[in-house]
Amino acid sequence: MSLFATKPLSRILEESEGGEHTLKRTLSAAQLVALGIGAIIGAGIFTLTGVAAAEHAGPAITLAFIAAAIGCAFAGLCYSEFATMIPIAGSAYTYAYATMGELLAWIIGWDLVLEYAVGAATVAVGWSGTLVSLLQNLGIHLPPQLITSPFEPIKMADGSMATGLINLPAVFIVCAISLLLMRGIQESARANSIIVVIKVAVIIVFIAIGWSFVDSSNHANYIPVNEGPSRYGWSGILRAAGVIFFAYIGFDAVSTAAQEAKNPKRDMPIGIIGSLLVCTVLFILYAHVLTGIVNYKELNVPSPITLALNKMPYTWLAILMKLAVLAGLTSVILVMLLGQSRVFFSMSRDGLLPKLFSEIHPKFQTPWRSNLLFMVFVSCFSAFAPISVVGEMTSIGTLFAFVLVCGGILVMRKTHPDLPRPFKTPLVPLVPVLGVLVNLGLMAGLGWSNWLRLFIWMGLGLAIYFGYSRHHSRLHTHPVKGGR
Ligand code: ALA
Repeated sequence: MSLFATKPLSRILEESEGGEHTLKRTLSAAQLVALGIGAIIGAGIFTLTGVAAAEHAGPAITLAFIAAAIGCAFAGLCYSEFATMIPIAGSAYTYAYATMGELLAWIIGWDLVLEYAVGAATVAVGWSGTLVSLLQNLGIHLPPQLITSPFEPIKMADGSMATGLINLPAVFIVCAISLLLMRGIQESARANSIIVVIKVAVIIVFIAIGWSFVDSSNHANYIPVNEGPSRYGWSGILRAAGVIFFAYIGFDAVSTAAQEAKNPKRDMPIGIIGSLLVCTVLFILYAHVLTGIVNYKELNVPSPITLALNKMPYTWLAILMKLAVLAGLTSVILVMLLGQSRVFFSMSRDGLLPKLFSEIHPKFQTPWRSNLLFMVFVSCFSAFAPISVVGEMTSIGTLFAFVLVCGGILVMRKTHPDLPRPFKTPLVPLVPVLGVLVNLGLMAGLGWSNWLRLFIWMGLGLAIYFGYSRHHSRLHTHPVKGGR
């Protein structure tokens, strides 16, 4: 069987329905939009905005948010076409299987671990940091060794240096969310919707109150004059767009839940594009207010929002904001872990991974063993790994998936021109081609060390593919009898 054999679409759709390895369709359009917003608003907007403004774009960070949103929109439109055409759980992995063959499908599925599992671990560490700071405000101090990974140095109260042991709060949140995900998709989606309402409401309150504290002199030099490579000016805005791309990651996770959507043909584009649109508007307004309250030169700090809150006389808003950040990060972890289990679910159904990843719990109707395994993997990662080093792998992994999905639209329009497309990407081939180029450009900006890690990760994936998956693939063991 050729490595580039594609899986016929009819077979993909047929295999997704019926049998014990099947998920239930219960999610509404509103829940899908909430899943998207749940995954998007998190660590990125609350931390990276400050660095990107201070180092690269100045107040024009708003333009960087628009630029990154355009790149995401190209990918979002392509994801929407695929998600309505192939409304099943695997997202980019399944799309690649139908268009570019098993090997590329495996590569993309393996790559998505970087986006979802590594992304969840990264955000879990951010969650831990936010909780620790919130508890400190309340006079509760956790032992530093139990909130830090072994790779990070700690400055002790007496001035001596030590290293951490384990990041326990990160383990706690990963386990709590994994248990919720095992309990049921409806329970998870409901919890996510509540969190999303809280975090969006608090951000709107911050924007509304903060607007009257904007000092127009902070915006006077809106696009600061370029001071060298990627430092202000238009090149700085582009670099900032690459940095804050992380803040947008997540809208594509909606597509992993396609097999649990009640009406995927109508609701997938609503979920994907709707969540992207809502977040773009919120991000631009938030960034405008932030750089209006605090001068961009002062924003190079881990928690820029705290600087802005310090300039307002409302302590309650500061506490509310920290709670919103905590809530925000919680839902990001939730949707990332959800997406991860659904991608492995599909890969396992296709025989590329052991069957246990697609075993559905008889009562809760969730791929609970997959959730359980990722609970252990992501917990260990967030407890012990040097997260600051691997965090950017989430961005490169996601961008790689976007490039393949945009490319896949071009392939699919050629190979399956007559297939019903409830949602059509507009201006094909322009939009997918721009999607490929913009996302490749953002990948290029991430530097050689991230490319090297991506290659190492892919090398490991290929070893598993040729050692196990290829021989167990259903396409291999039950060859196609014909038809598309
Ligand atoms: N967009 C998500 C975040 O910023 C990954 O946390």
